[in-house]
Amino acid sequence: MSHWRLDTHHQTLVFGLADGMPAALYWGPPLPADEDLAALEAAGQSMLTGGMLDALPPLTLCPEARRSFPGQPGLSLSRQGVPLHPKFGGCTAEAGAGTLSLTVTDGDAGLALTFSFEADADTGLITAATRLQASEPVEIHWLAAPVLPGPQQADEIVDIAGRWIGEFQLVRTPWAPGIRLREATTGRSGHEHPPFALFPDTGAGRTSGTVRAMAFGWSGGHRMIAEELPEGRRQIQWGHAAGSVGAQSDWTVGPLQLAVSAEAGMGGTAAAFQRHLYDRVVHWPCTPGARPVHYNCWEAVYFDHDLPVLTDIAERAAALGAERFVLDDGWFGRRDDDTSSLGDWQVDARKYPDGLKPLIEHVKSLGMSFGLWVEPEMVNRDSDLYRAHPDWALGAEDQIEGRGQRLLDMANPAVRDHLFATLDALLTAHDIDYLKWDHNRVLPAPDAAQTTGIYDLLDRLRAAHPQVEIESCASGGGRIDTGILSRTHRVWLSDSNDALERLRMQHDAALFLPAAITGAHVGPRECHNSGRILPMSFRAWVAAQRHMGLEMDPREITPDEAETLKRVISWYKSTRAWRMAGEIRTLDSADPAVTAEMQIARDGDRFVLFAGQSRASDQTLPRPLRLTALQPDARYRLSLTNPEDLPRQAHGPSALLDGPLTLSGAALMQSGIRLPWSWPATMWVVEGERL
Ligand code: GLA
Repeated sequence: MSHWRLDTHHQTLVFGLADGMPAALYWGPPLPADEDLAALEAAGQSMLTGGMLDALPPLTLCPEARRSFPGQPGLSLSRQGVPLHPKFGGCTAEAGAGTLSLTVTDGDAGLALTFSFEADADTGLITAATRLQASEPVEIHWLAAPVLPGPQQADEIVDIAGRWIGEFQLVRTPWAPGIRLREATTGRSGHEHPPFALFPDTGAGRTSGTVRAMAFGWSGGHRMIAEELPEGRRQIQWGHAAGSVGAQSDWTVGPLQLAVSAEAGMGGTAAAFQRHLYDRVVHWPCTPGARPVHYNCWEAVYFDHDLPVLTDIAERAAALGAERFVLDDGWFGRRDDDTSSLGDWQVDARKYPDGLKPLIEHVKSLGMSFGLWVEPEMVNRDSDLYRAHPDWALGAEDQIEGRGQRLLDMANPAVRDHLFATLDALLTAHDIDYLKWDHNRVLPAPDAAQTTGIYDLLDRLRAAHPQVEIESCASGGGRIDTGILSRTHRVWLSDSNDALERLRMQHDAALFLPAAITGAHVGPRECHNSGRILPMSFRAWVAAQRHMGLEMDPREITPDEAETLKRVISWYKSTRAWRMAGEIRTLDSADPAVTAEMQIARDGDRFVLFAGQSRASDQTLPRPLRLTALQPDARYRLSLTNPEDLPRQAHGPSALLDGPLTLSGAALMQSGIRLPWSWPATMWVVEGERL
């Protein structure tokens, strides 16, 4: 047999053999079950012309340089410094229900490559990985996860960039001869190049058209190459960052996750990714729908911890509706600012003379659970740990520090044992059900062993304390990838609590991340990293879109603001079960001043539309907003949840303001709805119900 296929309800992957090496002949929307794969292969062949070799070097799952491949090869190896040019072949296959693994070998070089694929029948995603096994260690300069063809009927690549307080920015680059290369070289998946990308066919948008989407599950830095070869073929490769792997005899690159949307645009791939992350990747210790409302004290007190103040804040947070109190940085060592004490995970007796128990007991008595901030992979030179073990720090003595801190060498088992013992003791001695796990600086040099070390530590801790949830934070969204998400339960999307910035970030992050894992907090009235002053209603609704929390000093809140906040929190609680398990479809808005999305329940019976006015519109009247993913012939009743947010100047007719509006799915998707007129920093919330 020389053809294989993998199918989900979203996509089909077809493989054939090219000179003994497997190649993806097709990756796209589902093909009929009886498709003639030999004919498909024949149809994909191209004639040649002058100036070419006598045959086209194959674009296999790992293109080899020795076959005169005219682009980036899928691997680059050496053994003891001598370059290797392996000749893989003799493909053997093992196929199971929804799984396929294809192995090729080069006996002379003592190498084997295994490409494995797993199709998830429920979520529709396909997961892929490449494993290299060597009889003697080889230096891995580059090894790609299974290499796939890029779409031909496509003009642009959409990948993600970002920065501190400006995460998840979409970047559109035209497909053109040569390489589009994204590389996270600093040892984290990073703010700058998060490992996610979309490959839309020409004309596809958020709600229509064919789109392919990829995510690479590795937290230690990666490289994505999207290349148009000289003769027009396109390939997409993902692997670990250059120079980070070193010599190995058994090394796996992956998981690479794949989604395809045949017609529903980026919303289709987003829904598949959100579902897969929620159902498969994240391992929940509890009912995931019931994401508790957080209170985090960072922007209220920073390092200035004072028990009476914190107990007062906890009481106010609980009265507003918070269900989990997270004690952020500043509780350990002698941590009065960010220059000291990382590594000394003992409670600061100056701030907490009787330890953390009095605060935890108070928090519990208010009906909240308790979470704690840690940054275990780091050390300050001004710490007892560093003074005792200067050799545990990673990198050169004269390295540039970040936030005055260094990394611990997570490849050293003694370091991991020490951190495990410390964190295990902390979790055993206290009633803690949540860790905010931070990582506030980049590595001195990329090093995969650092990431395998962190994964090992997280795995041990989770096995010992399976009920503890963990949030992945790295100065906000510096470590968001599907690898860390298989060991954590929430990401701190951004240190920006500015609701306007958040609205945009949440919109674009939702192309991959479900609401349940995306932390979003109501910040202070005057935002601490933009200076903007935004109304409570807007701040609260933006946070309520995702896993909601509060992160401000509740002593600043006026009675009116408290009323609003309580109302939105109680709405969050009453809708979270279906919203967190549902899907987010971001909308193509005809008005660039409006950022809109729908959250749709799994059974399709309910949805909520959020439409945020981020600035004043260019035109006078609101443009209609077309909904998506509804059943065209079903009827839906729509009600405006927050008519109280209508600005003073708005007057005249509005069907939504006047009462429920009932229309067919077709009308809602084709003609759309007109929202009431609004001021900037207003979020309209419209709930829909299928009749
Ligand atoms: C990082 C995090 C913040 C906060 C601080 C504490 O910057 O992103 O949310 O926890 O560390 O030092």
